[in-house]
Amino acid sequence: MDQVIDSPKLSVSEYLQEQNDKTLLRFLTCGSVDDGKSTLIGRLLYDSKLLFEDQLATLERDSKKRSAGGDEIDFSLLVDGLEAEREQGITIDVAYRFFTTDKRKFIVADTPGHVQYTRNMATGASSADLAVILVDARKGILPQTRRHSFIASLLGVQHVVLAVNKIDLVDFSEQRFSEILEDYRTFSSGFDFTSFQAIPISAKCGDNVTLKSQRMPWYMGPSLLEHLEGVEVGTERYTAPFRMPVQWVNRPNLDFRGFAGTVASGTLRPGDEVVVAKSGRSSKVASIVTMDEDKTVAHPGDAITITLSDEIDASRGDVFSSLEHRPDVADQFAAHLIWMAEAAMLPGRSYLLKIGRKTVTATVTEIKHKVDVNTFQHLAAKGLELNEIAFCAFALSEPVAFDPYEANKQTGSFILIDRFTNQTVGAGMIWYALRRSSNIHWQALDVNKTARSELKHQKPVVLWFTGLSGSGKSTVANIVEKQLHELGRHTMLLDGDNVRHGLNRDLGFTEADRVENIRRVAEVSKLFVDAGLITLVSFISPFSSERRMAREMLEAGEFVEIFVDTSVEECRERDPKGLYAKADRGELKNFTGVDAPYEKPELPEITLNGDNETPEKLAQQVLEYLKREGHW
Ligand code: ADX
Repeated sequence: MDQVIDSPKLSVSEYLQEQNDKTLLRFLTCGSVDDGKSTLIGRLLYDSKLLFEDQLATLERDSKKRSAGGDEIDFSLLVDGLEAEREQGITIDVAYRFFTTDKRKFIVADTPGHVQYTRNMATGASSADLAVILVDARKGILPQTRRHSFIASLLGVQHVVLAVNKIDLVDFSEQRFSEILEDYRTFSSGFDFTSFQAIPISAKCGDNVTLKSQRMPWYMGPSLLEHLEGVEVGTERYTAPFRMPVQWVNRPNLDFRGFAGTVASGTLRPGDEVVVAKSGRSSKVASIVTMDEDKTVAHPGDAITITLSDEIDASRGDVFSSLEHRPDVADQFAAHLIWMAEAAMLPGRSYLLKIGRKTVTATVTEIKHKVDVNTFQHLAAKGLELNEIAFCAFALSEPVAFDPYEANKQTGSFILIDRFTNQTVGAGMIWYALRRSSNIHWQALDVNKTARSELKHQKPVVLWFTGLSGSGKSTVANIVEKQLHELGRHTMLLDGDNVRHGLNRDLGFTEADRVENIRRVAEVSKLFVDAGLITLVSFISPFSSERRMAREMLEAGEFVEIFVDTSVEECRERDPKGLYAKADRGELKNFTGVDAPYEKPELPEITLNGDNETPEKLAQQVLEYLKREGHW
């Protein structure tokens, strides 16, 4: 493991070439706190002589301080610098370090070992070829070992090393090593790893880390570093069918149109037939252009622009693929989801889903089961909390191209983004398209919304009343409908209490149920708008997210958000159903305004001041709005 600088025989360009030719192994280490992860990484870096001299001096000094005069170096100090950063608010959840030996380049992802950090491990594992799973020889297989292995398998990490650490503390016992190996095999038999290697090591003393240990003659396998240098990885991306998500369409002038993107998998040569997955349009590759030169072949990871021999349409987010092996195209699929946010994931809530270069809106329509990451049991669930994993059905706002994750990690994975905070809240691995998505087609009907509305001489609309319980929503909505009726308008009123007696009888007042309550009502009100009706909706609808979803289901101008702005004090005073009193006595849980939240609308079309005006006055305000907007 010599260092660059010590290599006088190589010129700089020869050196760079040599580095380029070396293959790269991305791996991650996982283990529980105290399993010796930091020590192991420190040892790998130290023994590979990749620490700078001054870093070493500091390390020796700090180690002496820590171990009160002892001579041993504490390798974990090398990595512990990270802890400080973590304590400052978890900006870095995963630290990547780079090192190199004669044979290979390495990127190691170091993830915190603490129980609650499933999402961190998932972040590290998503790009890893190999996982080093550390166990303490004295403790054997722990729940964390099972969890880490499960996540590694779920994320398609192909190669696993079981590093049985602290073997020196069990007297280099072959029997203990075999026991642990046996335990591991028992629970991991269902995981589909391409290679598996168990290695007895002592990260602290260096046994079997970079060099084969003399102290375990019974162990015939390679040292950890030998194994890392030798394991064959990364061919899948090359052999998988060609995929390239379009990042942008490059059209500097009328004579040139190129599609720019990064090759996700497969290879591409001029003359190859490619197809735009979604439209099914195909053409031949005329040229592969890069910043430097035209290419005769492009590989995974290459940023290229392709030109085609025919004029076909493709835009950002579309996926070019090989003609013979096309990806699936669907707007519903089943996928594993790892939830990464503090706020719970709720089925029916809409999120942004980003797959490749394409972003669409999406909801989880069903949690098929949650997975207990310790026992691998399947559990029922209504929502997902931070770090939980579930198998879910998704529905998207439009079809997207994808492959099953098993076949292609690049085109089979996606992230979910919160629509308000813009934060990544989940990561998904697709299993299969739901057949119903390809078997249900939109029926074109001759009598449509326009025809129905014309017959009624009105422009349909949803008047969405939102506000606290007791704010006066239903009272005002009722007056508005009565007056519309007198004016000869065609209306329908959906009221929370009433709809909850029928269609939504199965729903309560948990967050998950309220999301579903509003989702259904939004769907129904959309149908009423299709029927050409002026539709009044009176629900607390406490979450901005669902009100926004309802808005987006309709066309511009069809959704009128009416915030009945009555203070909680006034609602409490009125308490028409005695529910505030009940909630105060603790007899009613999750009551909006007491122990459940209400998110005020930010930009409602109409705000009604429920504290100071009579219901009749407020109704008048709504009617005037409708007249002004020309609804009849
Ligand atoms: S929403 O939050 O899901 O939109 P919805 O408008 O359907 O609520 O129902 C609210 C009505 O249910 C209230 O007017 C009240 O009469 C009744 N109710 C019963 N329990 C609760 C509760 N925990 N929170 C709010 N309303 C409740």
